[in-house]
Amino acid sequence: MEKAVVPVTKHLEKKNNIFVIFILLILVIEKPSFANEDLLHEGKILSHFAGCYGCHTSKNNTEFSGGYEIRTKYGIFITPNITRDNNHGIGNWTESEFIKAIKTGVSPQNTPYYPSFPYVWFQKMSEEDIIKIFEYIKSLTPDNKKREKHTLKFPYNFRNLIWIWKILNEKISHSSETIILKNNNNLLSRGKYLTEVVGHCGACHSPRTWFSIVKNKSDLSGRGESFKNGKDSAPNITSAEKIGIGLWSESDIIFYLQTGIKPDGDFANEDMQSIIDDGTSHLSKKDLKAIATYLLK
Ligand code: HEC
Ligand code: HEC
Repeated sequence: MEKAVVPVTKHLEKKNNIFVIFILLILVIEKPSFANEDLLHEGKILSHFAGCYGCHTSKNNTEFSGGYEIRTKYGIFITPNITRDNNHGIGNWTESEFIKAIKTGVSPQNTPYYPSFPYVWFQKMSEEDIIKIFEYIKSLTPDNKKREKHTLKFPYNFRNLIWIWKILNEKISHSSETIILKNNNNLLSRGKYLTEVVGHCGACHSPRTWFSIVKNKSDLSGRGESFKNGKDSAPNITSAEKIGIGLWSESDIIFYLQTGIKPDGDFANEDMQSIIDDGTSHLSKKDLKAIATYLLK
């Protein structure tokens, strides 16, 4: 009798083993990929809010393949291809080369980048957030388009002059380390990080001194047009009541950063509308609330 039982239990054991292996496989394969998808999604939102998508994507082209023109008083900058293409993109960059470029504005070959790439603002971005952006961009389709060179006026076409600019900027520019805390501490510091660092709102809303250096990155009191035919002015977005947005409520700001509609029913102009469409409209309500809290502090 025993002889007959043994093969049955053995058979069952075998079945159980296969079942256990199957479950383990699901756990091993599925679990990290869930976590990974969450990270990629966070990377996507960050890459939109930080403007990487907006600046590095031109109309009807692959996402992040560059070719977008930035017109300034120094000439026209054409954004590079930052897809994972090995020849014309950043396919063979390491994670630390990417972090170095974003935080310090220096390339893997140790050449300086023009500050039209707003690395000055990204200096304090967390490495964790930068890696999420890197992973997200790497998960997308590469594009092998080679981008045109910038057409800059003399002497700005000499890239090595940027080293001097970088030293001046280091000496002159600062941001307020302390913020006056009226209510929610965490919300305010999250708001400051999103506004001043990742969202680099001051790249347009902060006054500039010579050579476009922003003296105080925490000053969002607006700026006038910087060149004759330019339309690069941006309003005061501090909590000042008459000249700023102090009369807007928190939900007015949240609604504006989602839709571009102002409390008086007016629409945002082109520049701010693309910041909203490509950037702030992707943020969670909680992060928008943090920005509103920070602006109204
Ligand atoms: C306001 C427009 C703008 C925004 C926003 C922007 N960039 Fe750029 N980026 C540029 C320009 C212009 C250059 C070229 C600079 C140069 O030639 O010195 C550049 C260069 C780069 C480079 C170097 C590419 C190479 O081939 O050497 C990388 C990488 C990069 N950007 C990634 C990013 C990421 C990631 C973000 C978001 C966190 C971002 N950029 C946001 C305009 C922008
Ligand atoms: C590329 C430049 C640029 C950047 C970057 C930018 N803005 Fe603006 N912003 C503008 C311009 C230009 C206007 C004026 C739009 C108008 O009046 O229709 C504006 C208007 C606004 C207004 C409405 C002010 C008013 O009185 O009507 C708010 C609020 C605002 N921006 C918040 C932000 C925040 C928050 C960020 C960062 C996430 C940001 N902006 C980044 C250019 C910019």
